[in-house]
Amino acid sequence: MKLFIDTGDVGEVRRAAEWGILDGCTTNPSLIAKAGRGFKETVLEICEILPEGEISAEVVSTDREGMLREAREIASWHPNIVVKVPLTPAGVATVRRLTDEGIKTNVTLVFTVSQALLAAKAGATFISNFVGRVDDVSTDGMAAVAETVAMVERYGFDSQVLAASVRHPRHIVEALAAGAHIATAPMAVLEALFRHPLTDAGLERFLSDWRKAGLSIG
Ligand code: E4P
Repeated sequence: MKLFIDTGDVGEVRRAAEWGILDGCTTNPSLIAKAGRGFKETVLEICEILPEGEISAEVVSTDREGMLREAREIASWHPNIVVKVPLTPAGVATVRRLTDEGIKTNVTLVFTVSQALLAAKAGATFISNFVGRVDDVSTDGMAAVAETVAMVERYGFDSQVLAASVRHPRHIVEALAAGAHIATAPMAVLEALFRHPLTDAGLERFLSDWRKAGLSIG
């Protein structure tokens, strides 16, 4: 499963990229607005930090012509950019056209497998299935991810299923169990993946035993 960072904060991307395990980055208009810098400069800097990564950047028009114009503009900035388009009738029509033009797409705001079917049929590169926002209203958000993975595999669609709106490490574990191709998570969740009290305690004991024995490397 690929791991993306879900942020518009270039500093976070830089810090997470240092781990050497990051496959890409997802942004959305809220995250870009929160980061407080220009859209294009932010996306291009993320592309530089992750030269092998897939970087999602979202359109903001809601009509097909506007989305197409913005998508072509955004895609022209860098070859690693994946254009994010919302799951609406105009969005699906846009994705169909972009697919035919060879532009990679990430269909966002997908909550059900029936919505995911529309994205898959339009040739979406990624289908962003939101989990946390569904859990927030007392429903099982990961169920749609599992159903979408099964649908994509059963019918041989090319789309990759991306578990989005991830809130905590348990969502990553559940995304693995659901067979998601990608999970995107905020920096705090990625950092939490490292942590285990037995890792901390174990490391402390190894180092203290080593020091007490007066050992050294080399
Ligand atoms: C996906 O790419 C979205 O940017 C993101 O995961 C939404 O997460 P949220 O529900 O925490 O805003």
